[in-house]
Amino acid sequence: LKDSFIETISLSNPINAVLLASGRGSNAKALLEYCRSEENLKSQNPWNICLIITDNPNAGIISIAKDFGVHCEVVEYPKGTKENAVERREQYSASLIKTLKINEAEITFAICAGFMKILTSSFLDYFKESHIELSRVINIHPSLLPSFPGAHAYEDAFAYGVAVSGATTHFVDEKIDNGPIIAQSIFNRSPSDTLGSFKAKGLSQEHPLFVKTLKIIQNNKLRFIEQPQNSRLVVQIIEDENEN
Ligand code: GRF
Repeated sequence: LKDSFIETISLSNPINAVLLASGRGSNAKALLEYCRSEENLKSQNPWNICLIITDNPNAGIISIAKDFGVHCEVVEYPKGTKENAVERREQYSASLIKTLKINEAEITFAICAGFMKILTSSFLDYFKESHIELSRVINIHPSLLPSFPGAHAYEDAFAYGVAVSGATTHFVDEKIDNGPIIAQSIFNRSPSDTLGSFKAKGLSQEHPLFVKTLKIIQNNKLRFIEQPQNSRLVVQIIEDENEN
């Protein structure tokens, strides 16, 4: 079977996006700074992060949002037991969607920047492309996927003894850290690295990688190839001729 080429995702102008974050917010800050840059503002499809949602009332992102003048809503995750975990996940998605609708302009993209909750298919459906099995929801993960998915990627990769690690940006699907990979960046682990220095190396790569990913998307550089052999949608990035 031959791979079939599929067109790219639809982009609104501006790309009104919600940013979801649970913690410190350093990735969010890097993205908000990029949104203010001339490069973004002059782009054909400028990113406009118009809403921030956090599940954590103590998240660093709350004051960062204030600094950037972006509305931030705290949407706490419903408490409960293991038995009603699925129900609570659905409830949470419904609350997120309700919060999206408070925004005046239609929000067409979701960016997860250290968001530690699992998104359900009803949330993903809100951002679904009509012609491909893909939602306009992206995430950054601090490992070279598919290695070390999950909530403790730096710790897991370091403990495993990897010689290289990195970060991955990808589209989000129903499975954890699984959707089509957009971009990756790598770093070497040196013998003197501690978990702290290993994480610091990684984080310093996450920020530019995430910004690069926003640029790839807004410049309409993404193409999707449907791989019949494993039913996976893979991303191909169109390079500029003058880029290396
Ligand atoms: C980052 O390492 C991100 O990749 C991971 O959680 C961390 C969040 O850091 N999912 P920050 O809140 O962006 O500073």
